[in-house]
Amino acid sequence: MAKQVVDNTDNTFVRPTCIGIIMDGNRRWAKKRELPTYKGHAAGKDTLKKVIEWSSTYGVQHIVCYAFSTENWTRPQEEVTAIEQLLVEGLKHEVTELAEKGIKLLFIGERERFSTETQELMRHAEEVTQTGTHTLGIALSYGGRAELAQAAQRASVKGDITEESIAKELWTYPIPDPELIIRTGGQQRLSNFLLWQSAYSELWFTDTLWPDFSKDEFLQALGDFAVRKRNFGA
Ligand code: FPP
Repeated sequence: MAKQVVDNTDNTFVRPTCIGIIMDGNRRWAKKRELPTYKGHAAGKDTLKKVIEWSSTYGVQHIVCYAFSTENWTRPQEEVTAIEQLLVEGLKHEVTELAEKGIKLLFIGERERFSTETQELMRHAEEVTQTGTHTLGIALSYGGRAELAQAAQRASVKGDITEESIAKELWTYPIPDPELIIRTGGQQRLSNFLLWQSAYSELWFTDTLWPDFSKDEFLQALGDFAVRKRNFGA
């Protein structure tokens, strides 16, 4: 039987402050429709835009989405270029709208691996949106282990290796740890995403391919989160 979905716009039940999202299934979505791969990523970008809206509506303040892993560089050059192109188009044409909606952009990962033009657009987008109250963290050329190694190294240079000092050196800082991580596309693993930050995250998986991820499922994830008992090991 289908689970009941509660449209809780008045935010009367517990909300995660921050959600992590592993947006998986774009290529399979395109393949099922006999479309080129880039169409799957373009449809995935549309879903991300909807999720930003739903998050604002339902009181989720921060989102961190996994758009491109360090391993994704090994994909065909044509596909890598298409994803970068989607990013560049968004950075050129959609940043003003995000700023007006109070969304603050933060790029997380090895941004130096992207072209100089893309890096400059990222920097500009972060500057233009810096006063936003809701964060959209976009993980690009991101790997959790690389992030942790760099954070530990930086903390060590400062001579202070503690949980607090390492947390402050993470690429996601100052976004709070996600209380909930959603993964679409049927796999049930973290794939090197937010390894440190996910220590106490609730994990929520669905077989739905990312471009098909719907508002009903988003609310289902929030509803399931609200009734989970979180005791942090106590
Ligand atoms: C995972 O699905 C998705 C990606 C590697 C790319 C994610 C990109 C977007 C959502 C659109 C671009 C958005 C930005 C912000 C640049 P997959 O390709 O691994 O699909 P599969 O599991 O079916 O192979």
